[in-house]
Amino acid sequence: MPSHPALRSSLIDRLRTVERVVVLTGAGMSAESGIPTFREAQTGLWARFRPEELATPQAFAANPQRVWQWYQWRRQRVLNARPHHGHEALVTLEDALSDFTIITQNVDELHQRAGNRQVIELHGSILRNICSVTGRLIDSDIHTETVTPPSSPHHPAGLARPGVVWFGEALPESALRQAMDAVASCQVCISVGTSTLVQPAASLPWQALEVGATVVEINPEETPLSRDADFSLRMTASEGLGVIVRGCCP
Ligand code: OAD
Repeated sequence: MPSHPALRSSLIDRLRTVERVVVLTGAGMSAESGIPTFREAQTGLWARFRPEELATPQAFAANPQRVWQWYQWRRQRVLNARPHHGHEALVTLEDALSDFTIITQNVDELHQRAGNRQVIELHGSILRNICSVTGRLIDSDIHTETVTPPSSPHHPAGLARPGVVWFGEALPESALRQAMDAVASCQVCISVGTSTLVQPAASLPWQALEVGATVVEINPEETPLSRDADFSLRMTASEGLGVIVRGCCP
């Protein structure tokens, strides 16, 4: 659906009347902070690296050091990144609404660093380490530029691994349940910067449509959601969220 000004104003009218809003974010949300997406043709991580060699439990079992080094490189990029105006817009929205939830597929904690409080992490966080045997948290203090993550996966508590969900692994049960509950009761669902290709997160906007919510997509490119969304803004995250916040929270 095109994103001409009349549509935008009816979107703003709708947003001004609701209280329960869910925002689903994907890698495109972090792109303007300098963190690469996954599936974009030239710049996406999966165009340059093979996920089965770096982001599966089997890859880690076969070569933990290699997987660790790759995540250390990604961690450094995350630690160097800063939230952008789109992240700030989501803080403004959370402050303005009584029921606001971000459901993110991103592992960079940029929403929390921007100041959002109600954030559900579906794919974990790259800034935490967990034990590869028990899944228990080993450290969660890799949050500032001054903290250097360990340079090897070996840890007194076992073999450490990044606290992210890998291909072939289940999502954290309670995060998924909370996300589905938030979607089930939302009035508006805004999908920002995700290709809506990876399940189960990808199905959330369609679940929102099923419960009668207004679904808004913000993405410079068309996705499978574009034809079903009530509003499809062909904009970057910072542009699209800027339009929404300037309209709703002037
Ligand atoms: P993708 O890389 O699949 O999609 C990123 C989307 O962001 C694309 O649709 C782009 O068009 C869009 N995009 C790019 N720049 C943007 C910008 N500035 N503003 C808004 N949108 C922009 O990333 P995800 O959909 O997040 O999973 O991928 C989902 C999951 O697949 C990831 O969480 C990761 C990956 O494999 C795991 O690692 C488990």
